[in-house]
Amino acid sequence: MIYLNGQFMPIEEACIPVLDRGFIFGDGVYEVIPAYSRKPFRLPKHLDRLQHSLDGIRLKNPFSNDDWKNLLEQVIARNEGEDQYLYLHITRGVAKRDHAFPANVPPTIFIMSNPLLPPPAALLASGASAITAIDNRWIRCDVKAISLLPNVLLRQMAVDVDAIETILIRDGFLTEGAASNIFVVKDKVLLAPPKSHLMLPGITYDVVLELVAAHQIAHEIREISETEIRTADEILLTSSTKEIMPITCLDGKPVGHGKPGELFTQLHALYQQYKATHMRGHFSDQAGL
Ligand code: PDD
Repeated sequence: MIYLNGQFMPIEEACIPVLDRGFIFGDGVYEVIPAYSRKPFRLPKHLDRLQHSLDGIRLKNPFSNDDWKNLLEQVIARNEGEDQYLYLHITRGVAKRDHAFPANVPPTIFIMSNPLLPPPAALLASGASAITAIDNRWIRCDVKAISLLPNVLLRQMAVDVDAIETILIRDGFLTEGAASNIFVVKDKVLLAPPKSHLMLPGITYDVVLELVAAHQIAHEIREISETEIRTADEILLTSSTKEIMPITCLDGKPVGHGKPGELFTQLHALYQQYKATHMRGHFSDQAGL
């Protein structure tokens, strides 16, 4: 069951007009929100980021945060599965094709739920492969825009060589993955690229930084050079759907010893603990608490 413009319906019955600006221009923004044990995870943070994305494309937020919470809970309730991920999508609505914004057009609002499956244990044990590519996206990557063509092409480059992600490099520095954030470990220090308009401010990225701060794990938030990526002891990938994953092979060469490292193992365990706290209902917006 999905939500579309005020109504709940089976996804097969959901239709949008061909003149929707999401279809014509990719003119919209989205969020991906995990729900564990049927409870949205870090919802206030996702809604803050949604507001930032809407501000970035000058589209008014159609709902209050309470309305969003209510709506998302209704979508969860109408779908099966303890763990789901919610896909929320807002476009600038339906109008005659013209690049300029239409006047007085209601936005199109769509929410769907899909089963949320953690990465397979075997992949976490072996680690995954990634490739690198030049980051050729626009310079508002902090906006979670539905126009994802560069991300689609970049991610497909990885899939074409049986890798799970493409790690992006802009002007010699790490930005993020095509659909994830990326961390590097060198000499037991976790390195995180600083948030900027060149990367999506990941909700999972924030959880990782809160966990390292709370557990006195050495870390630095700073620019990471291409050489540092290529000589890393560990590379970690994070996203709401993949949680934390070890990258053990980069461009066909082993990362460090070519096996998931100590920091991955520690952070993965801490992340699972934090999730369990959330699921028991002792929800905190601070992962360290
Ligand atoms: N993608 N960077 C990009 C470009 C992303 O698309 C994503 C997530 C992230 C990680 O953000 P978060 O931890 O908040 O999920 C970083 C989602 C999962 C997607 O598009 O399906």
